[in-house]
Amino acid sequence: MRVAILTGGGDCPGLNAAIRGVTLRLIDYGYETIGVRRGWLGLLEKMTFPLQAKDVEDIIHQGGTILGSSRTNPFKKDENGKDSSELLLNNLKEMGIDAIAAIGGEDTLGVASKLWDLGFPTVGIPKTMDNDLSGTDFTFGFDSSVAVAVDALDRLRDTAKSHSRAMVLEVMGRHAGWVALYVGLGGGADWIMIPEVTPDMDALCQHLLDLRKRGQDYALIVTSEGAEIPLESGEEAAPKELDAFGHVILKERGIGERVAQIIEKRTGIETRNVVIGHIQRGGSPTVFDRVLGSRVGLKAAEMIHSKEFGMMAALKGVDIVSVPLSVATGTLKTVPLELYEEVAMLFNR
Ligand code: F6P
Repeated sequence: MRVAILTGGGDCPGLNAAIRGVTLRLIDYGYETIGVRRGWLGLLEKMTFPLQAKDVEDIIHQGGTILGSSRTNPFKKDENGKDSSELLLNNLKEMGIDAIAAIGGEDTLGVASKLWDLGFPTVGIPKTMDNDLSGTDFTFGFDSSVAVAVDALDRLRDTAKSHSRAMVLEVMGRHAGWVALYVGLGGGADWIMIPEVTPDMDALCQHLLDLRKRGQDYALIVTSEGAEIPLESGEEAAPKELDAFGHVILKERGIGERVAQIIEKRTGIETRNVVIGHIQRGGSPTVFDRVLGSRVGLKAAEMIHSKEFGMMAALKGVDIVSVPLSVATGTLKTVPLELYEEVAMLFNR
């Protein structure tokens, strides 16, 4: 049996650990493993190669993905209403591929789920720095990204204190606030803005003024790129650009910049904005992500071996289990309000 392995969507630390885990276990079972370059695009353009144990043996510590990635959506319809699913299924047949282990977030695994609905055997391995995939407690990539951004926040604290400034750090995370919440909590921020909670700009500005009165003449604010700030009078909404899966490209909204401008205008406090961007997606994975990536990779291989298709390997507590791909990709896992409220006193006292 030939199993194709691919990584799709944004890269994140831990992908190579997962590739290593699934490949070594499949080889151990006696399967032929095929590496697909650049996600679903690689299957549409037949960019594949035999993936051998020697290719994956020493990659666990490396960031990115040795397979390459793309945001290609084979189910995206063109102007004539036609998608590439037929080409995809034909190519799979021609290449003699019997099953796919897809490593990705909601988009990549959404494609895997649809392929299974069409009868092609797939299993999913969850990854995303956004941690917004349902059905799993955490995804690898998240812990490493948060660690990088907390390091950035620690550094910004030095400048904020030296110059008596407010510093705004904009982090990724799309429409879920996990990254912002964990970075803000882990870095001891004075205010955290997440997409799940409409920001109260009056309360934020008042808080910064109160901090000054209490003797703290600097402040750290963490905002998620997806936070929704109500438009100020005279302000126009930024144009929306979409990716192949129909997601708004959030960095174009410049949320951190807007927050900094509003703070400076309303409080007179000198404020700077920093967008950490893709720096938080690169670099060596943390141990947590290496272990999680390895474990979900191993589990996916076991699922293929036991013909548990249409399912995703997932972390539940300390165990790795399998959950339906349809459940994992059905709804976005956002920050529960209870969690936000549980910790809110630490960042808006
Ligand atoms: O989904 C991961 C992510 O890093 C999001 O947090 C971010 O909005 C998006 O990808 C950026 O995408 P790209 O790498 O295509 O610019």
